[in-house]
Amino acid sequence: MIRVENVTKVFGANPQSVLPLLEQGKTKTEIQSETGHVVGVKDASFKVEAGQVFAIMGLSGSGKSTLIRCLNRLVEPTSGKIFFEDPEKGELDVTAMNVEDLRMLRRHQMSMVFQHFALFPHRTVLSNTVYGLEIQGRDKQEREEIGLKMLGMVGLGEWAEAYPSELSGGMQQRVGLARGLATEAKLLLMDEPFSALDPLIRVQMQDELKKIQAELERTILFITHDLDEAMFIGNKIAIMEAGEIIQIGTPEEILVNPRTEYVARFVEQADPTGVITAGTIAIPFRGTAFEQVREAGELKYLARQAYPEIEYGLDRDGRLREVVSAERSLTVEPLESVLEGRSHTSHERRRDDTLLTCTNRTVLRKLLQGRTYSTLPIVVTDEDGCAEGIVDEMELIGAILEKRGVSEEEAEAGIEAPRGRSSTA
Ligand SMILES: Nc1ncnc2c1ncn2[C@@H]1O[C@H](COP(=O)(O)OP(=O)(O)OP(=O)(O)O)[C@@H](O)[C@H]1O
Ligand SMILES: [Mg+2]
Repeated sequence: MIRVENVTKVFGANPQSVLPLLEQGKTKTEIQSETGHVVGVKDASFKVEAGQVFAIMGLSGSGKSTLIRCLNRLVEPTSGKIFFEDPEKGELDVTAMNVEDLRMLRRHQMSMVFQHFALFPHRTVLSNTVYGLEIQGRDKQEREEIGLKMLGMVGLGEWAEAYPSELSGGMQQRVGLARGLATEAKLLLMDEPFSALDPLIRVQMQDELKKIQAELERTILFITHDLDEAMFIGNKIAIMEAGEIIQIGTPEEILVNPRTEYVARFVEQADPTGVITAGTIAIPFRGTAFEQVREAGELKYLARQAYPEIEYGLDRDGRLREVVSAERSLTVEPLESVLEGRSHTSHERRRDDTLLTCTNRTVLRKLLQGRTYSTLPIVVTDEDGCAEGIVDEMELIGAILEKRGVSEEEAEAGIEAPRGRSSTA
């Protein structure tokens, strides 16, 4: 949808003069004290696919607003290229557009929700919402229909005829959001759209935005200060520091593998329970933690030093065929059915004879819930049902306290064919 290549923005009298200094590796602070120029964004490159939510986060002043404003050239990049994939016209070079093309692009293709939103005080809420459609030249009835639908989506259906001055700050921000959505642009640039909302409404709006995105198939660039928010709504997250993008990854990659101290500091505060998945923390069957026995073409894995000792028997296709414990007979049940109350076994007490299974995409929160029903390790499978390994108490604790997956070393030592495993392991 959008491709950004080596975009740099320098503020000051002679931005071009600063580019060689950046190439020499001078820092933002050095350049500022030596030349008086401010480096807003340095050499940013990334790609956002259609239908993705791409979150950008970083401390105040790290260049988030500057970067997002370069995309529609509200801020003129000093160097670098920006390409936009138009659904009809194919790939367009935004950096080469003239004023008229740019106006059309902003009107129809890229809509922006500003960090400091401004509503027209003399227009009603509805009229503010449909402003973008009005300049697109849509007729009145059509634009009011769309406007009312968007206001309904952000919970302001009753306020269409009110004036901005009658609304609270958070409500005004929601009007800004509805206005951004109403233009029907495929790409939405959102600069901290929820920052003025209180936590409860904010969570509601996050849910709402996810629904809107799925329903309307928008592509969204979303700036936020809040890593939990970025992880909840972003498929990908870019972390910025002093004008530079220092890490791009899925929420889980960032959480499990923060590349620098700066990223680690954000991650420390984050809630891992909705992000870290079973595939990342499972102890692989093929690893050194298990003893492998092959019998008539079937594989058995025996957990060493585990209590109770459990033998995991896999059939030729790698599916869990039986689990055997010397101490007691065990039943196997999918974690999903236990959580949804469809289980065959009564789970009124925490059982030590039920072994739960889940897929490698199952998030930590569900694994923890599962452990309130069963004291035994949870068997992790890939999407095809092939058993990959287990998650026991230690992995759950490690994931919560240290946001840690199985290390690369551990995984490499054990896994021959990392089928379906998360690449972050
Ligand atoms: N118009 C401008 N003129 C000069 N410097 C600017 C201008 N706009 C931004 N900057 C500088 O560029 C850097 C990045 O600013 P930017 O507004 O992009 O940060 P941000 O990450 O959006 O911060 P916040 O989270 O506070 O909104 C800062 O050092 C800022 O001082
Ligand atoms: Mg900003």
